[in-house]
This record gives sequence, C-alpha cells and structure tokens, in this order.
Amino acid sequence: MIESKYIVGNSKEIENIFKKFEISKPNLIISSPPYYDVLNYEDNKKQIGFGQGSYDEYLNDVVNVFQECYNLSHEDATFWLIVDTFKKEGETITLPFDINSEFKRRFNKNTWKLKEIIIWDKEKNLPWNGKGKFKNQYEYVLFYSKNESFKFNIDKVREINDLKKWWKKYPERYNPDGKAPSNIWEFTTPLRGWGNGKQNHLCPFPFPLIEKIISISSNEDDIIFDPFAGSGSVLAIAKQMKRNSIGIDINKNYYKIFMKEVRFGAEQYWNKRIIELAKIKNQIINFKKTNENLRKQKTINYISKYLNTINNCKNIYLAINSTSNKIKLYLLRKRSKQIIDIRDDKLTDLIRQTKIDVEIIIISKNNLFEKLKETKLYKYHFDKFYFYTASTQFERIIKNKDFENYFYSNICMKI
Ligand SMILES: C[S@@+](CC[C@H](N)C(=O)[O-])C[C@H]1O[C@@H](n2cnc3c(N)ncnc32)[C@H](O)[C@@H]1O
Repeated sequence: MIESKYIVGNSKEIENIFKKFEISKPNLIISSPPYYDVLNYEDNKKQIGFGQGSYDEYLNDVVNVFQECYNLSHEDATFWLIVDTFKKEGETITLPFDINSEFKRRFNKNTWKLKEIIIWDKEKNLPWNGKGKFKNQYEYVLFYSKNESFKFNIDKVREINDLKKWWKKYPERYNPDGKAPSNIWEFTTPLRGWGNGKQNHLCPFPFPLIEKIISISSNEDDIIFDPFAGSGSVLAIAKQMKRNSIGIDINKNYYKIFMKEVRFGAEQYWNKRIIELAKIKNQIINFKKTNENLRKQKTINYISKYLNTINNCKNIYLAINSTSNKIKLYLLRKRSKQIIDIRDDKLTDLIRQTKIDVEIIIISKNNLFEKLKETKLYKYHFDKFYFYTASTQFERIIKNKDFENYFYSNICMKI
C-alpha cells in the first residue's frame, strides 16, 4: 500500500515528527526552502524566513532542516534542492551557494555531496526587470547525494525529441536508447495553480519537474520527503508514481489546498502523462531499431566503397541483415585476385563507433543466386545509405549490371 502523509508541523522539529509518526528513512528528498523575508507564507509566526532577525539566523535554520534530512535519510538517499537567488537592498543574495557553503563549513564530510547543478529554465516568468536586474528566467536545482550508492535511473528520462538534422548521416553518434538529458531543464511555472485558475500557493513546483526528479532518483515503493511541502506537489506526484511520501508544512491552509486541489490536479496530470509515456516508449523502440539499421547500412556502405578503392574496380555488394548488430556482406568479385583487408584506420574507427560486426563473404554468382533468389533487395547509392532508390531482385541486378556506385541491402530504409 502506497502511503502519502502530509503533516502540519514545524520542520525545525523533524526528528520528533519522524519519531512520533514512525516514519522510515526517506530515499529521496525534494524541497524548496522559504525565501528569507522576501515571501510571507500566511503570516505564520513560526515560519522560517519571513520576520526572522538576520539572514544568518534564517540560513542557519534552513541548513539545520536539510542536515536533519541527511541524518534521517536512507544510505542511498539523494536530495534535490530547488532554490533561487533573490534581491535584497539592490544586492543579489546567493542563497543556493550560501546553503552549499554552510553544509561544508559546518559538517565537513558528514553532509550532502553536491553532484550536479541544474538550471531550471522557466521559459515564461513575470516580465519584471529594472536597473541592474534582468527578467528572472531560471532557478537552480542542486542535486546532492548522501554517498555513492544513490540511484540514477538515467534511462528513464532519455529523450529523442530534439534530434539534430544529421542524425541519419551520423547514427553512430546517437545513443540508440535516446539522448541523456542535459543540465538545463525547461519547465513552465504553474503560475495559475491547478484546476480553479487561481494561484493558491506562492511558489508551487511544476508537476513535470517533480516527475523527472522522481524518475531519476527513486523506484516504486521508495519514500520521498519534502520538509517544506507547501501545496504538496511532491507528495501528489509521488503517489501517482507509486512512491510513498511525507511532507511537512507549517501552514494548515496549504494542507487544505493539497487535499482539495493538488491531489486531483496530479491525478489528472498523470492520467494524461501515462498515455504520453507509452508513446515515448514506442518512439524509443522505433528509434533504436532505425538507429541500428542506419549503423549497419553506414558500415556496409563504407566497407563497400573502401574495397572498391583498394581494388580499383567495382564489385557487387549485397548486405543481408543478420542478428542484432550483425550483418553479412556478400561480395561478388569482378577480378579473381582482390584484397579483402579492411584494416584501414578510418574504417576501423567507424566500425568501433557503430559497433557493427560485419562478416564479409566472397561468393560466386550461382551460389549467391541460390541464396537470394527469393529475397527482396533495396538499392542504395553510395552517397545516401539511408534512402533506397529502388527495390529489386538479385537476378535483375546481374542482368542490368546496375552496381556502379550502389550497394544492395535487404534492409528497407527510406528516411
Ligand atoms: C518555497 S515554499 C515550498 C513550496 C512547495 N515546494 C510547493 O510545491 O508548493 C516554502 C514552504 O515552507 C513553509 N515553511 C516555512 N517555515 C516552515 C517551518 N518552520 N516548518 C515547515 N514549513 C515551513 C512555507 O509555509 C512554504 O509553504
């Protein structure tokens, strides 16, 4: 049974709250702290940040909460801190880096290790700027781990949606399972909340941002924790993704928003998202197959051209697809003595990159005819190994003597 627990309480007392509610060690912490005296959350007297005396006092409280998360978390835990800089009396306060420096200064090696800094590009944000201030377009996501046993499910978040135009020509440069995401993430801020069109919390997380972090850093049944839960977006998405979750926030009203709105918003989001995820999965399967075929075609193409060059004559080349990453290249010799040595530096390098194993078979016309008489073949120009120009059969190739600058393959490819 997946549990989702939103506790109205003070995060300065995490240890007691964990004891009282018998909470097990979280595997993943996703959180965003209050912003000193910049944002007032419901005028709550016990809140960290607003109304506190000095920045140092505030910073100390925030760092204490996150260090307590470290102490109470599982050995494989990661901590994703979503945090922005802010302006104070015309000066930029580098909160993300101040928190990081305090971890090191106060706890030395017994604290979170910074693994990566991600820029969250908010795409759209309020167009406020001013002297010495640009429109604020991004926020930081600091990704920490407790030690090296942390989860990093990068295959769950691979992308194929922004393939560059040369993906066909250079298939060896692309991971067949899709592209690993960069450290710039684009997600629009849900300025209008979820559902009723008004903003009920001052800085709610976008659901897709939480989804991405949960996919990378946790598995089903894991425990996810947010010590400053706010609208409860982390808990709501965690539940949809079959993870247990705990959130603490000092404000009762945010708990109500969570119960009344955010949980349902997350459910709606997830229902649409699972359809999208199934589509993405299929796209990746198709991309993987196409990429493998492209790598095979490119290798065959390269070897054929190369053999022609070293032998100074045109042979007939027919490629017959074999198992995954394997292909057979049948070669009909035009001259009795030919060199079949493919130890060329450039070629070896290409084969290493495409990871395609090519078996070259020298064969006589009659034997080849026997083998291929039923096989449909596709004709490729040497300059375009990813687009066949005609489909044909072996006997027609021999009859028409149509093999200058071409190779034939039973891989059907027109992209
Ligand atoms: C930046 S917001 C978090 C927003 C949240 N990530 C979301 O998606 O809605 C910071 C939250 O910290 C809460 N907070 C402030 N002081 C607190 C305290 N002492 N204990 C628990 N929560 C506190 C505020 O009420 C506010 O909701």
